[in-house]
Amino acid sequence: MGWTFRIFLSITGIVYGQNKDVDSHPIVVPKATPRNAVSVPADFFGFGFESGFLPHYNNEFSHNVVSSIQNRMSKPLVIRVGGTSGDNIIVHEDQKDASHCTSKFCTSLSHFDVGPSYFDTLKGFSNVAWSIQAPMGPHLDMTNTMLYLKHAWETLGKDRVSAIALGNEPNWYHLHDKGYDYATYTKDAIEIEDAVIKEFGLKGDERQIFQVGEIASEAVSSDFNLIGILKDRLGQNGRTKYAAEHFYQHAEPEKDKSYFSIQRLQEVLMNPANIQNHLKPYVDVIDWLREKKKPYPLVLSEVGSAIGGSPLTFGGSFGAAMWAVDFHLAAMAHGVQRVCNTMGPGATHAFWEPDNSGRQAKGPAVNGIFPAAAYIADFVGKDDGLGKVTELISGVESLTAYAMYGLKSAKPTRVALINLKEWHEDENPALSPRRDHVTVALDVGEETKSVTIKRMQSEKGSTALGFDQSIEQGRPWENVTWAGEQWSHKVDMGKGHFVSGPQEEKVEVSQGKVHVVVPDTEAVIVFLS
Ligand SMILES: *[C@@H]1O[C@H](CO)[C@@H](O)[C@H](O)[C@H]1NC(C)=O
Repeated sequence: MGWTFRIFLSITGIVYGQNKDVDSHPIVVPKATPRNAVSVPADFFGFGFESGFLPHYNNEFSHNVVSSIQNRMSKPLVIRVGGTSGDNIIVHEDQKDASHCTSKFCTSLSHFDVGPSYFDTLKGFSNVAWSIQAPMGPHLDMTNTMLYLKHAWETLGKDRVSAIALGNEPNWYHLHDKGYDYATYTKDAIEIEDAVIKEFGLKGDERQIFQVGEIASEAVSSDFNLIGILKDRLGQNGRTKYAAEHFYQHAEPEKDKSYFSIQRLQEVLMNPANIQNHLKPYVDVIDWLREKKKPYPLVLSEVGSAIGGSPLTFGGSFGAAMWAVDFHLAAMAHGVQRVCNTMGPGATHAFWEPDNSGRQAKGPAVNGIFPAAAYIADFVGKDDGLGKVTELISGVESLTAYAMYGLKSAKPTRVALINLKEWHEDENPALSPRRDHVTVALDVGEETKSVTIKRMQSEKGSTALGFDQSIEQGRPWENVTWAGEQWSHKVDMGKGHFVSGPQEEKVEVSQGKVHVVVPDTEAVIVFLS
C-alpha cells in the first residue's frame, strides 16, 4: 500500500503542520469500551431498490458497485426491495417483459405490471441478502401478494431472504380507506404471515422472518406509528424479526426549487444538530424496544438525504456524502441496527444511477455521495474487526467524532473524525474562500504505537458530483474519493479504482497523542495499531 504525502498535499492544497498546536482541538479516546457503547451488526450498511424499478439494477455495473461494498463486509449486505410501488405491483404469469408502469410518468408512486422475468434481478447479485416487500396496500389482494412472494422465494431460497416486509408506509393507507387503522393492518399482516408460513413450510424459528412498520419518515411521530403496531399482536406473536421505519433528512416537498441551494447544504444536510434532532423520535422507539424482554432490532429500511425536489447537486453531492457518514455513525451509536440507502433510477439522493432511464439525474453513473458507502463499511469493519461504537463529541464547531472498540480486546480500534463545516470551491477559484481545517489533538493512549489515517475527500468540496456526474454536467474533474479510491461507470464499471494509488498516512504516536488535520468538508478514519 503506497502513498505519497506530496500527492495528498496537492489534493487538499493545505500546508500541514502549520500552527497545529495553536488551534488544536483535544479529544480523549477512552482506553476501554465505554459503558454506553453499542454493538454494530456486520450488516449495518445496506442498499434499497424501489420495487417497480428493480429490473433496472439487473446489470453488471450495479453488480460491481454492490460487490465493492459487500467485499468490505463479513455478512451479506441487505438490499431492500420496497417502496410505494411495491404495494402497487400486479404479477402477470404470461407477461413477457420484466416490468412496466401503467401510468404516463413512471415514479415510485406509479402502478406496475410485472412478469416472471422481473425476479431475474434477484439472481445477479452474489452474496447479498434481500428484504422483500409483500404487496399489501389499503386493500389486500392475497392472490397477487402470494404470487409475488412465491416468485421471489423460489428465486432466492430461504437463506437469502433476510426478511419479508409487510407493506409500505401503512400510516398513509387511511388516505385511500378512511376506516383503516391498527386493527386493519394487524389483520392483513397476520393473514400474509399465515399464508407465508404455510406456503413455504416454515417451522420453529424460521417463522420469525417478518419486518413490520415501514412507517414514513414524515409520520414517525404520527398517530399511526411503530409502537402502536408493536403493542398489538404483531409485537407478541414471535414472528417479527425487524421493526422498520423510514428516514429522510429532508422529506418535505419544496415548491420553490431554489430552496435546495448550496447555501442550504450546511443548514439542512451538513448539520450534526439537525441530524441528532431528526433521529430523536427513532431513539425514543429504540428506548421503548429496549424495555421489552425480547427487543426487536430497529432498522431504517428506506433512507435518503433529501427528497421533495432536491437536485443531484444537493442530495447526491459530496455534501450529501458528508451528511451520510455523520448520519450513519450517529444512528449506529444510538443502536439502529441497519440502514438501507434507497434508490431508483434518476433519484437524486441515490448512490448510483443504474442506467440512462432517470429524468432528474443521468446515468449510468456513480454519484458524489458514493464514497460514504465505503467509509461507513470500513468504519463498521468485518470479522474480528467488528466492535462497539460510541460517540465521542457531537457537533462542536461542526466537528463530530466516534470511536469503535474491539469486541474481544475492549480497546479502541478506529476513530472517525468528521468536519461538517461546509466549504466548496467557487466557480471562479480566485473568488473562493480559503478552505479552513481543524487540528484534532487525539489522545489515543500510550499503548498505541502508531495510527493510519484514511480520508474521504473532494478537492472541490461539498458541491462535487464525482467523476461520472461532473462530466455529465459539463464541469469535469470533481473527483470524490475514499482513501484514494473513486467509483465510476466510465472508468471502472463500478468496481472502484485508485486515482493515483491508495492514499493513507502512517503517523507515529508521541506520548499517547497524535495530531490529525481535518479540512472543512472532509471526514477521516484514524486506524489505531
Ligand atoms: C479525477 O479522476 C480521473 C479518473 O480517475 C483521473 O483521470 C483524473 O486525473 C482525476 N483528476 C484529479 C484532479 O485528480
